[in-house]
Amino acid sequence: MNTEQIERIEHIAKRLATATRVTVLTGAGISAESGVATFRDPNGIWTKFKPEELASMDGFLKNPNLVWQWYQGRRDVLEKVVPNPGHTALAELQRWLETRGGRLTLATQNVDRLHHRAGSTDVLELHGNIVENYCSRCRKPHEYVFSDNPDQREPPRCTYCGGQIRPAVVWFGELLPVDVLAAAEAASEQCDVFFSIGTSAEVYPAAGLPIVAKRNGAFLVEINPNATALTRYADVVLHAASGAVLPQIIEALSSDKEQTTND
Ligand code: OAD
Repeated sequence: MNTEQIERIEHIAKRLATATRVTVLTGAGISAESGVATFRDPNGIWTKFKPEELASMDGFLKNPNLVWQWYQGRRDVLEKVVPNPGHTALAELQRWLETRGGRLTLATQNVDRLHHRAGSTDVLELHGNIVENYCSRCRKPHEYVFSDNPDQREPPRCTYCGGQIRPAVVWFGELLPVDVLAAAEAASEQCDVFFSIGTSAEVYPAAGLPIVAKRNGAFLVEINPNATALTRYADVVLHAASGAVLPQIIEALSSDKEQTTND
């Protein structure tokens, strides 16, 4: 790590030390080091597959088996991966703030549930999740556990109306869950520090949250190996992998605490 990066991490730790409310937005990049593919990187999912075929209601109506099987493949990947140090550091940061009477709100665009598995609580899933399912016709929730029947090759049928079951992810052209988005917007408006981590910041409304935070006076941090449309608005940018630098921010916080205790 170079000196500039160390200074930036210390700067972030200082802002966190006086912060009461912290809001974090994560995207596919935070799960990259767990082995989950991102969407828009050179080897990303949308460079190989068409979103309109696999992640839209039209695509599902045209070819439900294809869409179901593609999500089954993604579920299979998720069975085999584990949270990485970036996920764990965010769960730790949440606990650290809570013990000081503060609050961290974690809003994620990811459907992979890795934040939950790392110990984060009250995660706002802006794009739903891949674990739950509901009926594409009557919208009633449907209980299907992938590990109980991983060979299910076609969408199960709804026990109420016989409609085809779909994963509870938000597809293109669909609205985000209203209460989840409202909670994320409120947390963005009210925070002292906002982190945008591992997202290309291209998909709205999620991509607008850092700007809401900035407009309301938050200190904006971006963590991403690559520049995005958000980079120029950030107060501090760490061009690095989140699994590498998030634990270093936690470490800087603890050394800050030790210093205070020794003073
Ligand atoms: P993208 O694939 O668009 O962006 C991933 C970002 O992560 C890129 O900017 C990478 O540079 C960055 N990245 C890669 N490796 C990283 C690492 N180790 N640490 C930190 N950052 C890293 O994914 P999202 O922004 O999440 O929506 O995409 C937003 C939405 O578009 C997704 O939720 C999904 C997709 O279509 C739906 O499926 C509805």
